[in-house]
Amino acid sequence: MTIEILTVLPELLTSPFEHSMMKRAQEKGLLTIKLHTLRKWAINKHGQVDDYQYGGGAGMVMMCEPLANAIDELQAESKFDEIIFMTPDGKTLEQRDANTLSLKNRILIICGHYKGIDQRIRNLYVTREISIGDYVLSGGELAAAVLVDAIGRIIPGVLNDETSALTDSFQDNLLAPPVFSRPVEFRGLQVPPILLSGDPKKIEAWRQAQALERTQKRRPDILDQ
Ligand code: ADE
Repeated sequence: MTIEILTVLPELLTSPFEHSMMKRAQEKGLLTIKLHTLRKWAINKHGQVDDYQYGGGAGMVMMCEPLANAIDELQAESKFDEIIFMTPDGKTLEQRDANTLSLKNRILIICGHYKGIDQRIRNLYVTREISIGDYVLSGGELAAAVLVDAIGRIIPGVLNDETSALTDSFQDNLLAPPVFSRPVEFRGLQVPPILLSGDPKKIEAWRQAQALERTQKRRPDILDQ
């Protein structure tokens, strides 16, 4: 799978993909990440990609031409399966969106800045608008990093333990159960004895019950789905 990112700040997006799972996904050849700097398609030699908004008001808007020219050039040979715009007014990202996107071949993520991008680009090119939560970031880059990580880690073959993505929180509309490692006792707190029982059926049943209890307490909204 190839994920391309169009941004005015590619520097913000180097480190997030150089470690851990994203690094492994790329080394295994399962994920290719390409960063494109929008300035390459600036309208003048000053690198201009934004302008004042019609109707007045504070904040600049990312202009049509640089974005349209960039997208046209990037998909001259083959089309993107999805063109995603990161924006706080998009659909809130959920596990099922990441699951769907992890099955695509080639996607483009557009990072907005300033007041956002000209609406006509959204109408003409964008296939999905995604928010990572009800708060406003200073640009789409960190949101794009979150999206790429959520997608990249579930691309088949990326995780060492193939089953572990399936036991993540949200994969089955349940939060993950609590986990414990050594030592058996820490500051007076014990590991639940059932986890030491060596009985896989009982352990699985306990984990299910814990997951359900935790979800009922913390996120009853996802249980309703
Ligand atoms: N850009 C700014 N804030 C954002 C958010 N919450 N989600 C996605 N993109 C954004």
